[in-house]
Amino acid sequence: MADADTTEAKNYATSVPMQNVPFFLKGSNNLDWGMKNRLAQIFNPTSGRTVMLAFDHGYFLGPTSGLERIDLNIVPLIEYADTLMLTRGILRTTIPPTYTRGIVLRASGGPSILKELSDEEIAVSIDEAVRLNVAAMAVQVFIGGEHETRSAVGKEMVRDAQYMRLATRMCAELGATYVKTYYVDEDFDTVTASCPVPIVIAGGKKLPEPEALQLAYNAVQQGAAGVDMGRNIFQSKAPAAMIQAVRAVVHENLSPTQAYDLYLALKESDKQSVEN
Ligand code: 5RP
Repeated sequence: MADADTTEAKNYATSVPMQNVPFFLKGSNNLDWGMKNRLAQIFNPTSGRTVMLAFDHGYFLGPTSGLERIDLNIVPLIEYADTLMLTRGILRTTIPPTYTRGIVLRASGGPSILKELSDEEIAVSIDEAVRLNVAAMAVQVFIGGEHETRSAVGKEMVRDAQYMRLATRMCAELGATYVKTYYVDEDFDTVTASCPVPIVIAGGKKLPEPEALQLAYNAVQQGAAGVDMGRNIFQSKAPAAMIQAVRAVVHENLSPTQAYDLYLALKESDKQSVEN
């Protein structure tokens, strides 16, 4: 039998106001619970940042270097990522459904590197994204590109802070809950300051490891909420060591030098465990 519902047996803590804790992520406070919950699957609520492992490149590049065999090259790395940035086909075929962190699904596509890249269209419906249980859908925009209204990475555009302020602000104004963009050497802090939602940076083309760690460091120290890094991880000589070093920069504010030392140590210990 249920207990009698007597006020005497309860504690309503009437003198304690209900807590109203702001959501940790810039620009997201007024979103509904579901959106916040999904964003918390992408961004770490403690650091407020993310290390997204990006391997969606095949949607226009095919099996590019480091992504020839995602089952062998990428799956061993997913434990170190906060979230994965990938395509529907790779999610379905290659990522274990036991993966429980957030998934960021590439939702635009169409043209290959053989043609004009800005001619992208929406490639995944909302229903499909719900079926795949993803945390976010990502569309590419080519601001200044031939088809800028449709889809924004203008390969002929000068990548400076002025252009990035325009591009990121446009995305946020059109409703993006966060924006991925490239880092620029000068005035990147003005890009993050003028965008009302979090910015994560794409890693871009493969750099020597110390430079890639410096890039990640510069970005987060100037207001980026993390990295969406692909080639600088999966094309590294030691991808598992590299992603862990990137994590230390993003989540623990390790300096690039400290992070590179960590990379070298992890690389060496990985090598030894393979030899043993
Ligand atoms: C590919 C992408 C990638 O997700 C993004 O560019 C990050 O990868 P990388 O660090 O290799 O630049 O959008 O189209």
